[in-house]
Amino acid sequence: MTSLRPNRARTAGQRWLLAFLAALLLAACAPAKAAPPALDSASALAKAQTAAPPAGIAEVLAASSLDPAHRPAPAAEPVQFSGEAALAHVRQLSDTIGPRAAGSPGADAGADYIAQAFATYGYRVERQPFTFPRFEERQVRLTVGEDEITAHALVYSAPGNVSGPLVAAGYGAPADFPPSVADGVALIERGANITFKDKAEAAARAGARAAIIFNSASTGFTGSLQVPASIPVVAISGADSRRLREQLAAGPLEARLVVDAAVEERQTANVVASLPGSGDRTVVVGAHYDSVPISPGANDNASGTATMLELARVFAPELQAQRVDAAASQPPRATIRFVAFGAEELGLLGSDHYLQQLSPDERAHTAAMFNFDMVGVGDELLVGGDGTLAERSRGLAAGAGETVGQLNGDFVGRSDQAPFLAAGIPAVFFYVSDDPHYHTPGDVAGNVSAERLAEVGTLAAELIREVAR
Ligand code: BES
Ligand code: ZN
Repeated sequence: MTSLRPNRARTAGQRWLLAFLAALLLAACAPAKAAPPALDSASALAKAQTAAPPAGIAEVLAASSLDPAHRPAPAAEPVQFSGEAALAHVRQLSDTIGPRAAGSPGADAGADYIAQAFATYGYRVERQPFTFPRFEERQVRLTVGEDEITAHALVYSAPGNVSGPLVAAGYGAPADFPPSVADGVALIERGANITFKDKAEAAARAGARAAIIFNSASTGFTGSLQVPASIPVVAISGADSRRLREQLAAGPLEARLVVDAAVEERQTANVVASLPGSGDRTVVVGAHYDSVPISPGANDNASGTATMLELARVFAPELQAQRVDAAASQPPRATIRFVAFGAEELGLLGSDHYLQQLSPDERAHTAAMFNFDMVGVGDELLVGGDGTLAERSRGLAAGAGETVGQLNGDFVGRSDQAPFLAAGIPAVFFYVSDDPHYHTPGDVAGNVSAERLAEVGTLAAELIREVAR
């Protein structure tokens, strides 16, 4: 228990001293024409600093009572999932690191933290980097008549500086656009099961120079067009739209819209740790670690990431047992891959990338996927996706005197299980309803319940153990 603590407890001064001593040693051993000690000292310091575990891992270990020397004897009793240990991960990812938008320094810090946690549990860690087009909104100005209205570009809006008459176009179905929208600015309502992308494409096809999408609720909203659009597309609040629609009913209105935005290639990564099995099947235990830019993402989705990390700790002794006794004639067991997905919030990009980089054979041998997204706030645990896995999780919960609800099918497309299901891989989505702070700055660790995390994690551990057997 104590072997990691001194590392963590080292003060900056102690680290300097260690680095200095290392540098002295290097200098003493160096051949005469080696670099001068001052340079060695700097690189030794850099090494000493990068080797230190990230802030917080020791606290998590303390909360989980993991033996940091990775010496768990092949346990007769499985390790218990600790809600407190999972909550400690949530605090580190959301309170200490903060927002983790893909491609930002926060996301990189999140990935480093996850990699360190996996390594601390004894796993070999692999990073899967991938690039994605990152949209940056620099400035948006919308003026209608004399009024300046708050608007935000939808992700992948075209940049532009356009003006034209404002024309109401219902929900943005192709039939909703009157001919007068040509060379005008379309005013479209959010919803009716038509994606932002389809609304934008229909507006462009009808000849609109730009589209303004208003919220059905009175608040503002954000969203993505999924692919670069050919016209500027912005979001406004329902409250602002009400005024506009009243004015528009009374007479023509001129809209002027400036969108200064750009798309550039950025890099992020999935972080993967594997527990090799004896059979040829693989099961994936996943959660996305990125957040939306304005939110520290404690529930969405440090909670799922923490659950996945704590499951990795729970299964770690099995990793050790296999190392110790690799020849034991156990029945074939699936390999478990713990995957922290990047860039989920930009359109499930990490899970898509994960599937793309598998060979057809590896994909065919992926037996199941378990996804955790928003599992720390609310009262009702819901499971959706593959019917057999969902049913089994309900059975296991019932055995423990708990109930698990059915997640509405509409939600199943909204997180990283979706690409697995689309690839024909049985996948389940664990989600706790309902979080009032979804995608807001208020999604902080203080709202997250250790009991809820423990409930989800304990049930999932049982299900994963069963499926991987
Ligand atoms: N965690 C959410 C999905 C979610 C929200 C599930 C509420 C259940 C209830 C996820 O991170 C997210 O925000 N997904 C996007 C879609 C994705 C394809 C960009 C969403 O739901 O808008
Ligand atoms: Zn999420």
